[in-house]
Amino acid sequence: MSTGARRCLVIGGNGFIGSHLVDALRAGGNSVRVFDAGAPRPDMDWSGVDYRRGAFDAAADVAAALDGVDTVFHLVSTTVPSTSNKDPVADIQGNLVASVALMRAMIDRGLRRLVFFSSGGTVYGNPSRLPVPEDHPLEPISSYGVVKAAIERYLLMYGKLGQLDPLILRPGNPYGPRQGAAGIQGVIPAFLRRVRDGERLQVWGDGGVVRDYLYIADLVDLAIAAGLSDKNGVFNAGSGVGHSLLDIVAEIARATGRQPAIDFHPARNFDVDALVLDVTRARSELGWQPRVSLAEGMDRTWKAMSAADPVGS
Ligand SMILES: NC(=O)c1ccc[n+]([C@@H]2O[C@H](COP(=O)([O-])OP(=O)(O)OC[C@H]3O[C@@H](n4cnc5c(N)ncnc54)[C@H](O)[C@@H]3O)[C@@H](O)[C@H]2O)c1
Repeated sequence: MSTGARRCLVIGGNGFIGSHLVDALRAGGNSVRVFDAGAPRPDMDWSGVDYRRGAFDAAADVAAALDGVDTVFHLVSTTVPSTSNKDPVADIQGNLVASVALMRAMIDRGLRRLVFFSSGGTVYGNPSRLPVPEDHPLEPISSYGVVKAAIERYLLMYGKLGQLDPLILRPGNPYGPRQGAAGIQGVIPAFLRRVRDGERLQVWGDGGVVRDYLYIADLVDLAIAAGLSDKNGVFNAGSGVGHSLLDIVAEIARATGRQPAIDFHPARNFDVDALVLDVTRARSELGWQPRVSLAEGMDRTWKAMSAADPVGS
């Protein structure tokens, strides 16, 4: 694989993670094409990016977007864990079928490098040990996790057959500026938005659930270090440190200077209890390590949220 500038396609490049990845790939001298259903987000500079709008399940449009690229980053998901069990058939069609179609289209063109954003928070289910390493059994308890695991299996199968060079990232709970604050995925921006707007926080369970939070800049560093390397296979993408939801609330109170009120609700059956990722592989094979502490990441996220949409706007 060449080590110079790459010609990258970022499918889902208009989203939270994808938009930061686009920024970093471009800053690194790579050419970037985006394929995404949405209109280009207004909170970033798109100059130099070949932006194509289209639906991921429109196979011919996806295939056309492959022309002239050498590295594909796949960040589309039509579901999140909390919605996927409501319509698993749509989850399979929109994500698994469309992802396998992407793999076939790449193989047909002789394109080999596919970097897939899986999910460290869901593919393992409730892990038998923490921190959880990449070779832990996959026992997801949401359709989202089952579909992510199935996409991984196809990628690894085509890797074994010598037809693709797949690189799979399993992010835990990434957070940072540009993350949707609607509250569907990403508790930190959702809680910060509520605090900013003077609303109460909604917590499912007793606030003891533990997650592995990783600041977006660290995730993007890892995605580029891994994606543009000649490594194949699976990498956990977390901080390696667990924080409970109540830890996060305390950090939010510190960063914002406000003490939020909390409504507690019954725990949800698709949420795993505790998840901390073992990131030894990324550290040892790529020399990567997270640089942004939870406190610093929280401060940066709060600053961006306050500046982008101040209270009362
Ligand atoms: N954010 C997280 O907490 C998290 C954690 C683990 C894994 N992931 C995975 O990382 C990837 C990126 O996550 P994100 O948080 O940036 O998501 P996001 O929702 O912010 O971005 C996804 C992008 O994909 C686009 N998209 C969705 N469905 C599409 C379709 N059918 N056709 C074309 N474009 C479509 C959206 O317009 C959006 O720009 C996803 O695959 C997600 O499952 C995210």
